[in-house]
Amino acid sequence: MARSYPVNHWYAIATSAELTEKPLARTICNTPIVMFRDKAGAVAVLEDICPHRKAPLSSGFVVDGAIECGYHGAQFDAHGRCIHIPSQDVIPPRGMTVTRFPALERHDMIFAWIGDDKRATPDGIPDIWSANTYADWTAVHGYHHVKANYLLVLDNLADLTHLAFVHRSTIGASGRTGWFNNPLRVTIEGDRVHSSRTMRDISPSGFMLMTSRFAPTDKIDRFQTSDFFAPAFFTVVLGGEHAGTHEEMQRPHHIVLNSVTPETEETSHYFWSVCRTVALDDQHITDEMYRLTRLAFDEDADMLERQQQAIRADRSGRPLMNFQGDQGGAAMRKVIARLIEAETEEQAA
Ligand code: FES
Ligand SMILES: [Fe+2]
Repeated sequence: MARSYPVNHWYAIATSAELTEKPLARTICNTPIVMFRDKAGAVAVLEDICPHRKAPLSSGFVVDGAIECGYHGAQFDAHGRCIHIPSQDVIPPRGMTVTRFPALERHDMIFAWIGDDKRATPDGIPDIWSANTYADWTAVHGYHHVKANYLLVLDNLADLTHLAFVHRSTIGASGRTGWFNNPLRVTIEGDRVHSSRTMRDISPSGFMLMTSRFAPTDKIDRFQTSDFFAPAFFTVVLGGEHAGTHEEMQRPHHIVLNSVTPETEETSHYFWSVCRTVALDDQHITDEMYRLTRLAFDEDADMLERQQQAIRADRSGRPLMNFQGDQGGAAMRKVIARLIEAETEEQAA
């Protein structure tokens, strides 16, 4: 089966908080990897297989910044070189190395490059994660393992008309007509898809009421802008101004940062943050934002997993269809298809 994702790109593989003193195993783009911190605290990412008898390295321990296989104790440094074999005091046999993947840690997120490592450049990660660590923002982070292809997760982010249905009892209760009556304006710039929607003279969202940015009786103009950075990063910026007072969003109310990493063709790692600019020190609001976002993304994951099962069982061969609201998602899939095609052509050349 053809791959649905390009490989010569950075993908998020963990949050910084997840990587403690133990090795952390994950499958990224169908490749089992193990991450750990070297002596200096830098993230190392290796293929999760020991060349000796092919036990997973993640079954072992981190010893002095190296990873020790849990089976016979061979140790590998951050470059994947074997530096110690307990049962023999000689140079390791030829080929006793593990594939190492380029890794970067930024703004509380860890990224890895699974494709051709010679092409990995640090500037390939869009600087969207800074809101995670800005002093004048408060962020909550979460992770969902979703049993659905990553494109389905990205579709879900690109088409927020699902709010009124999937989230009817949680975050989607307000503003139903706002999402339907105000189509997205979508533009593609290179590997980036920008979309925006303005909803005039409607009620504030639940989150805006929670932070007391607006009163329940207020009528506001709500602004939503989204940016997709191929192949796997997606930001949604949400804000509002008193109705009729401003043409554009003056300052976002909150931003949802998303990173969707293919695990296999039918499963994904979904990392998200919600960062707000208001009521920064209110712990109750922080807790509620986490709880409600988690709840809403649970609802999304539930729908996406059912959708993946239905797609797996489907024998019709019919493609997915697009509504007007899929404009952003369709543009996003077009960019990804172009990147995959370019990689396939390069490999064939
Ligand atoms: S399998 Fe790893 S040291 Fe033997
Ligand atoms: Fe959703």
